Amino acid sequence: MAAEAALGEVRDGMLVGLGTGSTVAFLIAALARDRPRIECVATSIASAAAARAGGLIVRDFADVARVDLTIDGADEIDARLFAIKGAGGAMLREKVVAAASDRMVVIADGSKRVGAIGRAKVPVEVLPFARAFVAGRLTALGAAVAVREGVTDNGNFIVDARFAAMPDPRALAMAIDAIPGALGHGLFLDEVDAAYVADGGVVTRLGR
Ligand code: A5P
Repeated sequence: MAAEAALGEVRDGMLVGLGTGSTVAFLIAALARDRPRIECVATSIASAAAARAGGLIVRDFADVARVDLTIDGADEIDARLFAIKGAGGAMLREKVVAAASDRMVVIADGSKRVGAIGRAKVPVEVLPFARAFVAGRLTALGAAVAVREGVTDNGNFIVDARFAAMPDPRALAMAIDAIPGALGHGLFLDEVDAAYVADGGVVTRLGR
């Protein structure tokens, strides 16, 4: 339902950024059904493959400097439109595409809507060379850390950082941004312009 609601923001001729995850899978199916000629860029190999399989035109983001609208999922979202993303491991590309987008909307089910973000793990994409160093710095910031199995679409590791409390997400985001070898993280504090949250058969739209 959230994906169908967000579809209402897509206009003919737009270049649409496709997020990653199980909620975005509904969006990709709906776009393929209703807007088969829309051009897209994808935030993951999986989303690009799903979009192409549905017949959508997927451009290489490396050739793209600006996107009209990006629609993506989230692991947590609050009324400030602060989000935690990256359970699916695509948060670095997701943040780049969101930054390139004139508008970014989140689609989610009600389990993702929280009073204040902070309980979900914050995934951090890490240069393999810097794995232990970045994990140590995140631990020093108060996180319980775990290195995920496998690598991202970019060939890097993910360190999941879980914080007991997150009183100041902006300060935390700045602190992680300042760690050499930490290439990106799942705190999205300025990127989200609106969210469609489906719960109990009703879609609620959160805006700035
Ligand atoms: C992908 O890396 C994530 O940011 C997803 O957007 C997020 O985890 C939400 O995924 P689901 O829609 O599968 O819950």
